[in-house]
Amino acid sequence: MHVIEAQGLWKTYGKGETEVVALRDVSLRVSRGEVAALLGPSGSGKSSLLTTLGLLQFPDRGSVRIGELEAVIEGRLRVDAARVRRERIGFVFQKANLIPFLNALDNVLVAFEINNRGGREARQRAAALLDYLGLADRLAHMPDELSGGQQQRVAIARALAMEPPVILADEPTAALDGRRSRDVMQLFRRVAHERGTAVVIVTHDHRTLDAFDTVHEMEDGVLRTTPHPSAAPAH
Ligand SMILES: Nc1ncnc2c1ncn2[C@@H]1O[C@H](COP(=O)(O)OP(=O)(O)OP(=O)(O)O)[C@@H](O)[C@H]1O
Ligand SMILES: [Mg+2]
Repeated sequence: MHVIEAQGLWKTYGKGETEVVALRDVSLRVSRGEVAALLGPSGSGKSSLLTTLGLLQFPDRGSVRIGELEAVIEGRLRVDAARVRRERIGFVFQKANLIPFLNALDNVLVAFEINNRGGREARQRAAALLDYLGLADRLAHMPDELSGGQQQRVAIARALAMEPPVILADEPTAALDGRRSRDVMQLFRRVAHERGTAVVIVTHDHRTLDAFDTVHEMEDGVLRTTPHPSAAPAH
């Protein structure tokens, strides 16, 4: 069974002269352990699709299933979206968006605390996650004492904290140089393959494409699944 299944999504913004159709009958499936790339020109609807999959906004038509949860059916929300996001979806954005007055460890702990899972065990897991991401010696650093790539890794640790079955990332490497971008992409790949997480990443960066199992391209609201150059899914 697919971890993410979107069927027939339509999304229109505005009305009349300002109307923009951002999603046109978009369907997408992502399996356990699959890392999917979402490519396409600016304004083609990539972020619209990602935020719709992540229940941050809702389609006019179509449905979204996350695991066994039918979250949206024919454009209508059927679950507690905030709860599903908190418990099942890890988001990573272009900017790390860390809380500036909390150190790296406490920024990751926040993800446990909003799920009422704080405490000593959470602290240990947060520290272990940061260690996994190569930041063991940066736990007590404040965000402004970390490099862009390190901040982004803290944001990824925060997204991974609840071990969500789904990770959605919108240009997570936009602020990073080529080597760091590849490192971050490999990291998502490792997480997906080791933990069975379904990962969807919006990227402009063709240099990192070999880190993906599947490649989808958006153009003017239409999604196309393109054959992968090195077509060999790792699961
Ligand atoms: N909240 C909104 N209100 C009105 N129009 C919007 C809104 N959000 C997006 N749009 C429009 O919908 C279209 C798709 O936008 P979207 O942000 O999904 O594109 P994108 O592929 O993520 O682009 P980029 O690569 O620049 O981030 C664009 O034409 C955009 O102007
Ligand atoms: Mg976007």
